[in-house]
Amino acid sequence: MIEISPPPKFKPLQIGSVVVDPPVLQAPMAGFTNYAFRQIVRQFGGAGLQATEMISARGFLGLQSHRDSDELPDRLWGVADEPRPLAVQIWDNDPESLAAVGGKLAHDLKVTVVDINFGCPVRQVTERAKSGSYLLRCPEKMGQIIERVVAACKPVPVTAKIRLGCTRDQINAIDIAQVVEGAGAAALTVHGRTAADFFKGTADWENISAIRPFLKNIPLIGNGDLDSPQAVVDALTRYDVDGVMIARAALGRPWLFCQAQAALRGEPIPPDPSLDAQRQLLLHHFELICQRFGLEKGCILMRKYACCYAQGRRGARTFRSRVAVINTAEEFFQVVEESFPREVATQSASETSPVSISSGPLTCSSTSTGGSEKTL
Ligand SMILES: Cc1cc2nc3c(=O)[nH]c(=O)nc-3n(C[C@H](O)[C@H](O)[C@H](O)COP(=O)(O)O)c2cc1C
Repeated sequence: MIEISPPPKFKPLQIGSVVVDPPVLQAPMAGFTNYAFRQIVRQFGGAGLQATEMISARGFLGLQSHRDSDELPDRLWGVADEPRPLAVQIWDNDPESLAAVGGKLAHDLKVTVVDINFGCPVRQVTERAKSGSYLLRCPEKMGQIIERVVAACKPVPVTAKIRLGCTRDQINAIDIAQVVEGAGAAALTVHGRTAADFFKGTADWENISAIRPFLKNIPLIGNGDLDSPQAVVDALTRYDVDGVMIARAALGRPWLFCQAQAALRGEPIPPDPSLDAQRQLLLHHFELICQRFGLEKGCILMRKYACCYAQGRRGARTFRSRVAVINTAEEFFQVVEESFPREVATQSASETSPVSISSGPLTCSSTSTGGSEKTL
């Protein structure tokens, strides 16, 4: 067991009427945090609130009016039926489109939280669509958007996710935070980089903390570079934030939330799952993806998801180069079988079927070398 001391005590955070316990959130990540990933995180447990990928509001409305149907964007896969709590993130710069989609999410799909993206630095979203982090230079417009979405979603809470500003010379998160709260948002998440940073450098937690005294009633959630239970405990201890959000580190270690939860409770931290359990997890992820997208597209998509699981593992480079070119389930099973060997080999790769994988609770090992496993 990994020990983290001293055993800390942390309060749940409150987003409107929604209690987020523990105060550790799973970040929205386009292309990654789809239903399959969320389900895997959910099965390990420990994330106080999970989020979808960001959804284009105009894309959503266009799809429904074009086909004159209730069809939902691919990125809302699973949202109608999966367990709550669940936050859905939307983006656009048009208050009416955002309000229309927010209202549908809140009232028809009954999601727990509607989050608005004001942090995406990708050109397609900023320069072409004048949305995401582009809006950080237009606080007034942000206020209008939030007010409209809050009114449309009531009583479902609306939150905003921002970066510190557009560039290091234009950090305006404190001003933005006050606009966000004034417009009726129920929480603010801040990624401690600027839009110009993309993912360069380290997240600036001092500047995230500096926002806290300017918020009167809503919680502040800090985000950036948290990659271990210790980092989560440290962020909540050292910085003036009410909650934290984890993004990239959880892609290859979806059990990070349950480890962070244990750390926050002052309990022994379960070690990473055994290789055997990680192999099962990869196959389970593949199964979920293929059930939705079919085998052909599932194999292509699984290349990038599988690469995440190799992060920090011995032989990661070889695994990535092999898994990045798989085209069939058999090829995938072969690579996984060889890279995540069974403790007792009972079945050959070609005998393994994606539909045979259990969808029950996933586990972290009770010993770091595997063996007996503890259900979380
Ligand atoms: C592949 C990828 C996709 C992302 N997509 C989104 C998104 O859809 N919405 C959003 O608010 N942030 C998005 N982000 C940013 C993350 O939510 C998070 O703010 C950022 O990665 C910093 O957190 P981390 O250091 O824990 O990764 C994305 C990040 C990555 C790496």
